[in-house]
Amino acid sequence: MDKELVIVIDFGGQYNQLVARRVRECSVYCEIYPYKTDLNKIKEMNPKGIILTGGPSSCYEEGAATCSPELFTLGIPVLGLCYGAQLMSFVLGGQVARAEVREYGRTEVDVDRTSRLFTDVTAHTVCWMSHFDYIAEMAPGFRSIASTKNCPVAAAEDEDRKLYAIQFHPEVLHTEEGSKMLYHFVRDICGCRGDWRMDSFAEENIRAIREKVGNGKVLCALSGGVDSSVAAVLLSRAVGQQLTCVFVDHGLLRKNEGDEVEAVFGAGGNYKLNFIRINARERFYEKLAGVTEPEKKRKIIGEEFIRVFEEEAKKIGAVDFLVQGTIYPDVVESGLGGESAVIKSHHNVGGLPDCVEFREIIEPLRNLFKDEVRKVGLELGIPERLVFRQPFPGPGLGVRIVGEVTAEKVKIVQDADAIYREEIAAAGLDKSLSQYFAALTNMRSVGVMGDERTYDYAVALRAVNTVDFMTADAAEIPWEVLKKITGRIINEVRHVNRVMYDITSKPPGTIEFE
Ligand code: XMP
Repeated sequence: MDKELVIVIDFGGQYNQLVARRVRECSVYCEIYPYKTDLNKIKEMNPKGIILTGGPSSCYEEGAATCSPELFTLGIPVLGLCYGAQLMSFVLGGQVARAEVREYGRTEVDVDRTSRLFTDVTAHTVCWMSHFDYIAEMAPGFRSIASTKNCPVAAAEDEDRKLYAIQFHPEVLHTEEGSKMLYHFVRDICGCRGDWRMDSFAEENIRAIREKVGNGKVLCALSGGVDSSVAAVLLSRAVGQQLTCVFVDHGLLRKNEGDEVEAVFGAGGNYKLNFIRINARERFYEKLAGVTEPEKKRKIIGEEFIRVFEEEAKKIGAVDFLVQGTIYPDVVESGLGGESAVIKSHHNVGGLPDCVEFREIIEPLRNLFKDEVRKVGLELGIPERLVFRQPFPGPGLGVRIVGEVTAEKVKIVQDADAIYREEIAAAGLDKSLSQYFAALTNMRSVGVMGDERTYDYAVALRAVNTVDFMTADAAEIPWEVLKKITGRIINEVRHVNRVMYDITSKPPGTIEFE
């Protein structure tokens, strides 16, 4: 049976990865391609459906992102969203113009339920709009199937040619029945069977990896983060002791984290693999002594990491395969997939491939989104606390200590952070925050404890909510919880006499402190 594929053509909109995720939620495999992708390549892929995404341009302006009219003549159903909807209308002979009223946010929409896209959608529903242009005149053959107060063509279709245009964003959760609309497109209109399942992923991949690796030797840099952990376990299930995992403990992990990683992957754990933990904290602290500039600290940590890994790899000798925990957003963000290319400025294991002798890279998670990686992790029996670990920067606490990093400061921030995490979990807030941590400011100030004057550090607490980590809002943690955390940190962590809560959003702040 052929594998069903729906492709998302990326015009640079901000929700593009979301579109692909929603399609996968319909049990249909989906990949993202830039709008400049050659039409012949698209034909070769023979997708069951094509979705054109939103984007920042105006389709009638010179140089705007566009597509070939031939895309609409392949007999493959096409769904245009926002910019994609306008572009489809424009390319096929309709008119797109600047709207008098710009629509943004939750908007009431009336839909025509005789359209297959809207079968069983409530006739009057809520959608998410974000546009300044609108379809002023539909292309020949189309009829309007949805409207809002200010937008006569909020959706249009040409059922004969299986072309659909939606001005709003069904992929965004604020479009209350958006998932139904996408489901109708991929399952009813494109006719996808919907047999793509996450649970077959692990099984199929283990088999494929085993075949590929044969008797080869495999090396993996394990950080304890979700991606490298899941990649390592997949490999260990496939090739067992042919896999060696090297875990560089740079002494900048959260409290007890090094031991936790060792407990899971080391000799006492459940996996049959060769696990090597390198305790390199002294080396890292020495290199960081006296360094205060954030980017320099990052660079030192990154380079030292590679050096330590390289030394270990030399002892192991040449290997056949190097495992990397690359996931789909990394692929898209580094410009290999979609159009909305933002090259990641912080990459965890960027230099590894150059320092190890190997034949081929294995990236078993290359096509998965983060939540899918987590599902695979759970299926493989990786402990929940590891699978749902929040993002943690590669340079670790090195970028959560403002100014020079010292062993003493690392201990302070580890202890404060551990209390913070404990109390957030106790208050039942841990699942509702995207990322939260304690950082050590470089500020010392006067306080009084007992009858003594103190001159100690200020710890900063940060908690943010974000969808994509590009922008973020400070979370509103209940005052009582903050007071309790503050009390505990001051009482239990030596050399801290003030605790501050950071309410800066990103922008203008960043999530981390450096
Ligand atoms: P910022 O601080 O840029 O963080 O708002 C956005 C997200 O990226 C993480 N981050 C890093 N991750 N190496 C990493 O692997 C780094 O140097 C680094 N700096 C920030 C941060 O934790 C947040 O999730």
